[in-house]
Amino acid sequence: MNFEIRNNVFWVGKVDWELRKFHGEEYSAHKGTTYNSYLVKDTHTALIDTVWTPFSKEFVDGLSDVVPLDEIDFIIANHSEPDHSGALPALMDVIPDTPIYCTAQAEKFLRGYYHKDWDFRLVKTGDKLSLGSRELVFVSAPMLHWPDNMFCYLTGDNILFSNDAFGQHYASEAMYNDLVDQYELYDECIKYYANILTPFSKQVIKKIEEVVGLKLPVDFICTSHGVIWRNDPLQIVNKYVEWAGDYQENQITIIYDTMWNSTRRMAESIAEGIKSADEKIVVKLFSSARADKNDIIKEVFKSKAILVGSSTINNGILSSVAGILEEIRGLRFKGKSAASFGSYGWSGEGVKMITELLKESGFKIIGDGLRELWNPDRESFERCIDFGKGFATNL
Ligand code: FEO
Repeated sequence: MNFEIRNNVFWVGKVDWELRKFHGEEYSAHKGTTYNSYLVKDTHTALIDTVWTPFSKEFVDGLSDVVPLDEIDFIIANHSEPDHSGALPALMDVIPDTPIYCTAQAEKFLRGYYHKDWDFRLVKTGDKLSLGSRELVFVSAPMLHWPDNMFCYLTGDNILFSNDAFGQHYASEAMYNDLVDQYELYDECIKYYANILTPFSKQVIKKIEEVVGLKLPVDFICTSHGVIWRNDPLQIVNKYVEWAGDYQENQITIIYDTMWNSTRRMAESIAEGIKSADEKIVVKLFSSARADKNDIIKEVFKSKAILVGSSTINNGILSSVAGILEEIRGLRFKGKSAASFGSYGWSGEGVKMITELLKESGFKIIGDGLRELWNPDRESFERCIDFGKGFATNL
């Protein structure tokens, strides 16, 4: 379904309705995704990125409907990850001498993936490539979200090709931000930021300031995943500035796993305590064993504080809690508070262990946590309610 965006700028990517797991099993894509590739025709023709490897043949066939392949003068590889470079080998089999413009890091990574001696032309911020009546201006964007990432900007039509930045895993035939369900779009954007970009928030702010400083008019932001931003395209840039600033809402998220429901019932009583302290706080509970981990991370991102609970097992914590705590550690959240809780039968180390892990992950720890022996009784539930109340009021 290739289509023209404006003045001989075409979308030539792939909508992947089937995808449910991305980055191996690391990222849940409940609504599929798109791999956006763009073709700019001018005196010279440039192709910007390709698609994921399994769609190589479809991509190359579809591209040849828009342009004879031997008329592609330049290939721009904004990012080496295989969801964007995967079709390069199939394309380069047909046009092996076409130069590939990319950052020095991208050359290394593309060589590492494909072991091909293609004609790499290295570019950095400020370099320009004339297509005839228009130019592509390159802006390196390291760690958004890999060291090799870059953006490019098309003069004349004012289009920023931002690759992964400002994207979302969201399949749609509509392909423009103003034509899709706005709640779904927002939800996928914030999930994407929370799970992929949180550790790089400093770089996000720096890069946005740098690009804004160039004072380039932006009519379209063409990302590599999801919709093209054409209606108020800077709205997503403004959201990124907000999200990169240690974002939080008036929300507390409770994450737990439980063996015989004691820790679950503690979680529910703690939630009751939080609500009784402040009915305006949004409280959400997730079983780390049952809920999708990327959805949980999205909620942690939105929270001002989290509570993490586990039964004690084998002098430690349940594996699903250990798993989500490892995700949380890696994402380096800032400015959030936390506490731990859990039930136990004899040794009861779980709560202390969770507290230590949360502290190492940069959370401000509120109190020593709450342990309850065996199955909670009425008094235990009262303690949980008080614990939740105290947690909410001491933030
Ligand atoms: Fe969409 Fe970093 O690849």
